[in-house]
Amino acid sequence: MKRPFATILLLLILSACSNDPEDFNGNVTGYRTIYRIPVVVHVVHNGEAIGTGANIGYAQIQSQIDVLNEDFRRRTGTNGSNKNEDGADTFIEFFLTIEGPDGAILEEPGVDRVDGGRSEWPKGILRNPIETSLKPFTIWDPEKYFNIWTVNFGGFVGRDLLGYAQFPDESGLPGLNVDSGPDNTDGIVIGYKYFGSSQKGNFPGLVAPYDLGRTTTHEVGHWLGLRHIWGDGDCTYDDYCLDTPLSAEPSFGCPVDKITCTELEMTENYMDYTDDGCMNTFTKDQTERMITVLETSPRRKELAILVQEPLD
Ligand code: ARG
Ligand code: ZN
Ligand code: CA
Repeated sequence: MKRPFATILLLLILSACSNDPEDFNGNVTGYRTIYRIPVVVHVVHNGEAIGTGANIGYAQIQSQIDVLNEDFRRRTGTNGSNKNEDGADTFIEFFLTIEGPDGAILEEPGVDRVDGGRSEWPKGILRNPIETSLKPFTIWDPEKYFNIWTVNFGGFVGRDLLGYAQFPDESGLPGLNVDSGPDNTDGIVIGYKYFGSSQKGNFPGLVAPYDLGRTTTHEVGHWLGLRHIWGDGDCTYDDYCLDTPLSAEPSFGCPVDKITCTELEMTENYMDYTDDGCMNTFTKDQTERMITVLETSPRRKELAILVQEPLD
């Protein structure tokens, strides 16, 4: 396992002060490793004032980071807590970066406001301005930052796209490609109407039932190597996690007693398509996949800052 110098130093100090022995993983006993990921949110707008339309305000951005931390750390007393015996604290956290690419302190931490010069960003096979122009021209070094773009998708027939992700490369995990896309498009894209939580402020642009920040939780799951719990196919397709029951299709709304294969489905899993208010679970096997990605995939393994947190 690769550790940045600062973490090695911290470990040395911790072991020197408390005389804690190290276990076989090199972890100091009595502590666990937290993976803290620096985030930049590229807020793509069309010249609107800050706080209007696609140019979402800082409080809404912060509310989304707070939801990610509640969900990934399974925080007690939040929407992200659960009592599922297969449920897990992933030990992954997110923070808005203090410094920009040039090393200067950012006026708004972790925020890059971009006038994209258009009101809608369609994502189609033929027309894909997000992938071909927006991302390559605005991305910050993906070995240093987890890039999130918020846009007004638009241009869809039927249900709006909520968000999408680029999967990790070379993780060695089953169900993932060796190459999932170029360096200069790495990250996730979220519709600004689904970014942040309406429980954490007055954000009238958010659209229920996708207004509690779970689209971003779901897309970060993909970005860290998780597949949909129905395996994108019938009961013969899997998500390569033994502790998520098989399912033959995505679920919408809030079904609680659904069985399409053999077992009760985990519709509360973040990697289903249920409503934001009905999701609260990542499992242990999902956590294992995400940690594997953070330790092995290019542009992921360089990213996390490892922090030792005392066990409670
Ligand atoms: N990529 C999926 C979509 O656009 C995300 C679904 C997220 N689900 C949610 N409840 N927020 O449909
Ligand atoms: Zn998905
Ligand atoms: Ca499974």
